[in-house]
Amino acid sequence: MFVVVFLILFLNQSSAIKYRFYFENEGVFSDCANEPRSVKNIEGLLDLSEVTFKYNSEFLAASGNLTYVWDIQPGDRVQCDIQLLRFDRGSWLPTIVYISFPDICITLYDKSQFWYKGWTMHIINIDEIKDKCVYPGNKMIHKPFNLDAVADVSGLNWSGLHKIIYRLKAFDSNNVIRPTSICYEIVGDIKKI
Ligand SMILES: *[C@@H]1O[C@H](CO)[C@@H](O)[C@H](O)[C@H]1NC(C)=O
Ligand SMILES: *[C@@H]1O[C@H](CO)[C@@H](O)[C@H](O)[C@H]1NC(C)=O
Repeated sequence: MFVVVFLILFLNQSSAIKYRFYFENEGVFSDCANEPRSVKNIEGLLDLSEVTFKYNSEFLAASGNLTYVWDIQPGDRVQCDIQLLRFDRGSWLPTIVYISFPDICITLYDKSQFWYKGWTMHIINIDEIKDKCVYPGNKMIHKPFNLDAVADVSGLNWSGLHKIIYRLKAFDSNNVIRPTSICYEIVGDIKKI
């Protein structure tokens, strides 16, 4: 999911200014602040024990497996909301970037989606897992890949410390929300290159 946001952010923006996102946290993911007990962090969504992230100066080398552990049911609709905040004079402020996917299961492993090249194409067992969405036990086995979050962006000055907040909520077939939801953040410094 961390790849997704850059591609979304910078999709279809035509310009000559190149930016790179430098991950701030060694573990990539941070917890959201002040969440109630029913909101789990990244470890409520994914088992990270079989994945490794290594930092190089420009990119993040990733390898291993990610297994979904969130206690939801097959057939649930999963909504994902992604928001970009910017750190400015001591506080986190919203930016114009806010994207909501009402049903990520439809698109998560779709080869025609724009995040395929950044992330999901590196999953070896895609055929086995693609129909199981983010349901518990579904294991993504990756071949090693480098995540270099570079993009051309126009208009605004995107330099500075940012965080991306991901919120996932699941709904049963009657559209009743499941008791636990997920929130995690990825913090990084965006620099012009
Ligand atoms: C990833 O999962 C496969 C299949 O279950 C396993 O053989 C492999 O050892 C796992 N990789 C890591 C880094 O744990
Ligand atoms: C862009 O923003 C950064 C961080 O706030 C600042 O250091 C830099 O001077 C700005 N660049 C321009 C061209 O305004």
